[in-house]
Amino acid sequence: MVQDAVLKNDWIVACRSTDLQEQPIQVMIMGERIVLYRNEEGVHAFKDLCIHRGAALSLGCVRDGKLVCPYHGWEYESTGACVKIPQLPADQSIPAKARAFKYGCTERYGFIWVNLGNNEPEMFSLPEFNDPEFRCVIWGPQSVNAKPPRVVENFLDVGHLAVVHEGYLGVASHTEIGDYRVHQDGTSIRSEEIEVFQPDPDGSGQAKHVYYTYEILRPLSVKFTKRDRETGNLMSILLTVVPTEEGKTVAYGVLSFNYDTGTTDAEIVEFQNMIFAQDKPIVENQKPEELPLDLQVELSLKCDRVSIAYRQYLKELGVTLGTA
Ligand code: FES
Ligand code: CO
Repeated sequence: MVQDAVLKNDWIVACRSTDLQEQPIQVMIMGERIVLYRNEEGVHAFKDLCIHRGAALSLGCVRDGKLVCPYHGWEYESTGACVKIPQLPADQSIPAKARAFKYGCTERYGFIWVNLGNNEPEMFSLPEFNDPEFRCVIWGPQSVNAKPPRVVENFLDVGHLAVVHEGYLGVASHTEIGDYRVHQDGTSIRSEEIEVFQPDPDGSGQAKHVYYTYEILRPLSVKFTKRDRETGNLMSILLTVVPTEEGKTVAYGVLSFNYDTGTTDAEIVEFQNMIFAQDKPIVENQKPEELPLDLQVELSLKCDRVSIAYRQYLKELGVTLGTA
């Protein structure tokens, strides 16, 4: 898979924080096999390849904070430098070339993130995550056989709610979407509040109008917030996706609530899985598989302004991965 220059300057979600414990693990990002491990200094990501004989470092272990290759036991410290070669006689020094290929790695918002360019880009902010007013629930991984921009755009699509998610996120009698604008200022792209009629937006059983705001944070990270104007209830979902292999995407999310949903974390995840399962066959069968960035291709409505803003954003950034 061709590595997209823009995405090399970004943080890409690799796994949930809870997926990475004492054992190193392998993740796949943009066709690259990557080993993640954790020690007292934090989390680390290397190319999952030992320079000695090409063994997968993820089959090894972490010993005294070093990543140990499973084949001949070479030990790598978190800078990527090999600091021990068991076969080497004591009077010989470790070759300077004995290094692992290091990537940027950080832990935020309940996930491990990898930066393939290893150039410390800025992470987008997710204020709900550290706000005691909000309960946050981690969702994912969910795999989709589609390219990332189609998956992200589906999440930004307000028009499908009353069709694909009829009875859950919309009602067949209320499919019209009123006009709204999308504002761009510097780093943020966000829609105005869009009125959506929902059968049961907060679990109380009462159908009502709620207001959706969509935000485009990064090419692979977007968010929406649902606001109930009567109660002040806020619910937001961060969607972040990783291109694993060509034509495959894995999605994760953070769901935040400032009110009591009356449901467990597992029930919230299950509901989200059900909603995602409704979107999946649509997204997996869209043609072309690449998201068209030429606005003359496909026919947009005014209610598609968020998707149009997303396409323009990808075009301006020069994102090539999964776009046409
Ligand atoms: Fe890793 Fe030999 S292949 S130590
Ligand atoms: Co949907």
